[in-house]
Amino acid sequence: MATCCINPSILSADFVNLEAELARIGSADAVHVDVMDNHFVPNLTIGLPVVQRIQEISALPLDAHLMIADPDRWAPGYAEAGLASVTFHVEASTAPVRLARELRDRGAKAGMALKPATAVEPYLDLLPEMDMLLIMTVEPGFGGQSFLDVTLPKIRRAAEAVAGSGLPVAIQVDGGITEETILRAADAGANVFVAGSAVYGAGDPDAAISSLREAATR
Ligand code: DX5
Ligand code: ZN
Repeated sequence: MATCCINPSILSADFVNLEAELARIGSADAVHVDVMDNHFVPNLTIGLPVVQRIQEISALPLDAHLMIADPDRWAPGYAEAGLASVTFHVEASTAPVRLARELRDRGAKAGMALKPATAVEPYLDLLPEMDMLLIMTVEPGFGGQSFLDVTLPKIRRAAEAVAGSGLPVAIQVDGGITEETILRAADAGANVFVAGSAVYGAGDPDAAISSLREAATR
């Protein structure tokens, strides 16, 4: 799958003005929504009621990243809300295949996320059940962290496995993506890029999105 998507994370947006903040990223491919529960990660953001409202007003598809305990219980609700894709962490799921099927049955793409220290190999056999693999390039929980180069070999191995399988599974990277780091992630085989501070920390978020797009293909 060729490089395609820049998905800004609204974690770095102004939560009091979300509708206006969404209007500033009209050129994005999807909106990355970080859900944190203060159990799976040491931070707390928003939950289903707020995400449902964002879904209702967003012109762009929503890409949820659930950093929550017990996604087997909670994730299907996000698919039911009409989100384009719902990504759960494998470290938190007890039945990732069943969960991915439940997400797909509800019309969402199913994504499987891995923290930096989680090996991808045990999960490669599950690729036919997934639409996306999210390789975290920082420890999940906070925006504004530095990209971890130690995750590059894993991105490469995952991308090679996907290419070898012939399956249409996207490789998403999330954390520390900037104009400088995006090329390394793209070279390793990532094709969907989440960027929070690099987009919302810029004066013109839409211009930052096009700079990232250019940098990914340089
Ligand atoms: C971190 C979140 C990311 C975060 C990325 O746990 O999953 O989506 O918003 O922020 P930046 O791009 O600033 O690293
Ligand atoms: Zn995220």
